[in-house]
Amino acid sequence: MAEADLYTMYKGVLVPTLIHPPQSLRRYETFAFRPDDVLIVTYPKSGTTWMQEIVPLIMSGGDPASVETLHNWDRVPWLEEGRSCSLNLDDRPSPRMFTTHFLHHMMPPSFFEVRPKVIYVMRNPKDVFTSAFHYHRMASFLVDPEPQSDFLHKFLHGKVMFGSWFEHIKSWLNDRERIFYISYEEMIKDLGDSVARIALFLEKPLDKGVIKKIAERCGFDNMKKNNMSNYSAVPQEIMDCTKSEFLRKGIAGDWKNQLTAAEAEYFDAVYEDNMKDVDYKFAWA
Ligand code: A3P
Repeated sequence: MAEADLYTMYKGVLVPTLIHPPQSLRRYETFAFRPDDVLIVTYPKSGTTWMQEIVPLIMSGGDPASVETLHNWDRVPWLEEGRSCSLNLDDRPSPRMFTTHFLHHMMPPSFFEVRPKVIYVMRNPKDVFTSAFHYHRMASFLVDPEPQSDFLHKFLHGKVMFGSWFEHIKSWLNDRERIFYISYEEMIKDLGDSVARIALFLEKPLDKGVIKKIAERCGFDNMKKNNMSNYSAVPQEIMDCTKSEFLRKGIAGDWKNQLTAAEAEYFDAVYEDNMKDVDYKFAWA
């Protein structure tokens, strides 16, 4: 399918049309947040699904019921996606948990009035690109990422779903109010410590045993086995796991197996140009 048929331009960024019908985008604009809502914000392929496993477990004090019975897209739904219209989100009891891939300036007015808690998950953009490349191979509602050099050019210039990685991260780093920043790399390095810090931010202090159990359950191999989180429920014509799995490798640094030396150099130059004024110590830098 041609790119124009796969994507819709919404507030300056491309969104996959199949899962972002006009009614959900309209509904999103008037969504009413509550102060105790928890919002997971990510650029796609940065660790969204991982955080959709961790946050409910923290909020439930380690009770696995929701991660064992609810798909991640219903457990911590995306506010902008079509499915959100059928989930009665306004009737969910507090504290509610949501996800979004949108940039900061795309948040609805209620976000700025209410200031829900935000967890912003970031990942080395070279690994984001690598993960996205494989995801685009398996997802029929996204553009074909081949040839890789063309897809890399699009990625580095924001001509991909949810726009520029650089703009996304800069938009969310500009406003540090009630936002907890964590990187995929920190979670890979020490998941127990990451869970403990997220729990503190969520004002849900947990004892060490519970933190250890949550970290074990959220380890890559265990999450891969969880049919509520591994996307195995999605029909093959929409996501073809024979081409690439959703929980694919789960490591930091896989870009070294994906980018040529010239592509990595090009990436670094664009990164440097876009990020030179950003005052933040990134885990991958
Ligand atoms: P890879 O394709 O590099 O393996 P998102 O959920 O934002 O779409 O991100 C998907 C990426 O997060 C995939 O990366 C996936 O494997 C990785 N991921 C999901 N759960 C993980 C976990 N428990 N541990 C490590 N990586 C995980």
